[in-house]
Amino acid sequence: MTPSLSINGVDVYRGALNAAAQAALVQAARGVAEAAPFFHPETRRGQQMSVRMTSAGAFGWVSDRRGYRYDPVHPSGVPWPAIPAPILAVWHDFAGTSRAPESCLINYYDANARMGLHQDRDEASFDWPVVSVSLGDDALFRVGTADAPRPSQSLWLTSGDVVVLRGEGRLAYHGVDRLRPGSSQLLPKGGRINLTLRVVT
Ligand code: SIN
Ligand code: FE2
Repeated sequence: MTPSLSINGVDVYRGALNAAAQAALVQAARGVAEAAPFFHPETRRGQQMSVRMTSAGAFGWVSDRRGYRYDPVHPSGVPWPAIPAPILAVWHDFAGTSRAPESCLINYYDANARMGLHQDRDEASFDWPVVSVSLGDDALFRVGTADAPRPSQSLWLTSGDVVVLRGEGRLAYHGVDRLRPGSSQLLPKGGRINLTLRVVT
């Protein structure tokens, strides 16, 4: 597949997932959240992040006063559920590797949530891509370079878009400035779900 556009090596596939595929992914994410409920991570300084998170796979991403890390269990102590098949299928369609992902982070953004510019660099190797799926309300996605958060460019991601960070884009700074509340009917209560698939070890 050819990306619709590429910013500093960050590939954006517009409208990659049709309505039925999006609904199946939401259903899959809901199943994960039933076993491993969404939680509000805290930063090391004790500030609550605005995005709610949970995970599937061998490792989930957690952040608390001990810092942030990949952890084999949910904060409640239960193991993360397996990555559901429809989510794995997206990885295999876009990642360009036969290696399976070890983590699917599920972020939920309500109307006021955002995510500051950061690099994904908690993984053992940057040779594997990061595959990210947008579901629900539009999000203003900001992309810097691998060297610095600025200069940056922004674009609106809409439901069904897939973003792949690979090559020079693997370590590009990225974040979400804000949502466009009410722009999608996919999630009954509105907001946005982002699925982020990664190889961790
Ligand atoms: C992330 O970088 O973890 C999330 C990006 C997004 O929500 O699109
Ligand atoms: Fe990220």
